[in-house]
Amino acid sequence: MTRDIVFQDKVVSPFEGETVLDALLRVGADVAFSCKGGSCHTCMLHCLEGEVPDVARRALPERLRSLGYFLPCRCTPTGPMRLGPKRAQDMVTSCMLVEVDGHESGSLRIVFEPSQKLEYRMGQTLRLVNGAAQANEPVLMLSSDPAEAVVMEARWVLGEGETVPDVFAPGAEFGGVFEVRGPFTPDYDDLPEQTTAPTTDPALWDELDQGRRVRQVLDAFYAKVYADPLLAPFFHGVTPDRAAGKQYSFLQQRMTGAKVYWGDAPRNAHHWMVIPHALFDHRQRLMVQTLREHGLSEGQIQRWTRFEEYYRADIVKDKAWPRKVGDTLVRTEGFALEVLGEASLCDHCGAEVPNGTTVRYHLRTGQISCPACMAGRAGQQATD
Ligand code: HEM
Ligand code: FES
Repeated sequence: MTRDIVFQDKVVSPFEGETVLDALLRVGADVAFSCKGGSCHTCMLHCLEGEVPDVARRALPERLRSLGYFLPCRCTPTGPMRLGPKRAQDMVTSCMLVEVDGHESGSLRIVFEPSQKLEYRMGQTLRLVNGAAQANEPVLMLSSDPAEAVVMEARWVLGEGETVPDVFAPGAEFGGVFEVRGPFTPDYDDLPEQTTAPTTDPALWDELDQGRRVRQVLDAFYAKVYADPLLAPFFHGVTPDRAAGKQYSFLQQRMTGAKVYWGDAPRNAHHWMVIPHALFDHRQRLMVQTLREHGLSEGQIQRWTRFEEYYRADIVKDKAWPRKVGDTLVRTEGFALEVLGEASLCDHCGAEVPNGTTVRYHLRTGQISCPACMAGRAGQQATD
């Protein structure tokens, strides 16, 4: 009988006595592993078809066993198997609360420690296991950097009807236990088809007091954005007033049709910003929260947010896009060399750089490096 193992694009027939893990590694399959002895559970895979010997599942909790998970390093196959990677929705981790705050703003900052190491990246999401159907579990966005943080931190922007469980209540005690599912990685391949732009809605502009309430909403919204550790970094060098002002005239044009917006189209305005779906969703949750705080009805909120949702495909991406000027794409990432036409200051060390010097500059930020900084030596520190 064949004992072929199928995993992603690999098919391997294991040698006598060879484990599934060794067979997969032999053909270069992308499987993480560490102990190779059933202790660490790093190698865990999902058996989609075929028999799993009991010894390869015994160490796993019943919940994972019943879903078909097993440890390939402990599995000598008895027949053919079709395998899949771990699915984020099946991975539930118990966590311990370190601290929680932000109740008054409706955006909780939750600091916690997982009971086992979670591999994650900033911007991925977790779902809070709270007994609700999986699709309705609250979304927590990871805001800590695994390279730096010892404990983990996540943001939960409370949506409508979402209540804070006791474990996160104001004054909640260190040590409270909760479970999370994930982490989930944003998917860039499921961008919606760009449909036709939403039609104008001048009635909404009028209902919002000829735009006066739009401005109030935007001021409150950008106050939240600038206080948000995930969104604020993009706004470095942009004042809240400018951000709210641009957004105001953009929305005025979209809602009323009046030609009042002179900024970039969203695709160009955000061309360098790597914005995953989860971050876009996070912004939208903050926006909906602000609109509710300002008394807009659910119908008005839907009419407002369609002007933003339409641009998702122009904004969400996993790498920077070049800028588009007319039909020409202009490269804006990377560096170029230039001979200075007048004296300038090095943006890194602050030293004066004389006219005629060749400097390197970044195509997007325009920041220049003097020859010493270019060579990796410390330049002359500015003293002011
Ligand atoms: C996570 C999502 C988003 C982030 C991080 C973000 C970030 C930013 C930043 C940093 C700027 C300032 C650029 C500058 O002044 O140099 C900006 C401008 C702008 N954004 Fe967004 N944005 C997001 C989503 C949206 C959405 C959904 C819309 C609505 C369609 C939007 C519309 C605009 C407009 C109209 C401008 C002004 C462009 C200009 O100055 O020419 N943004 N955005
Ligand atoms: S590699 Fe450690 S359990 Fe399989």
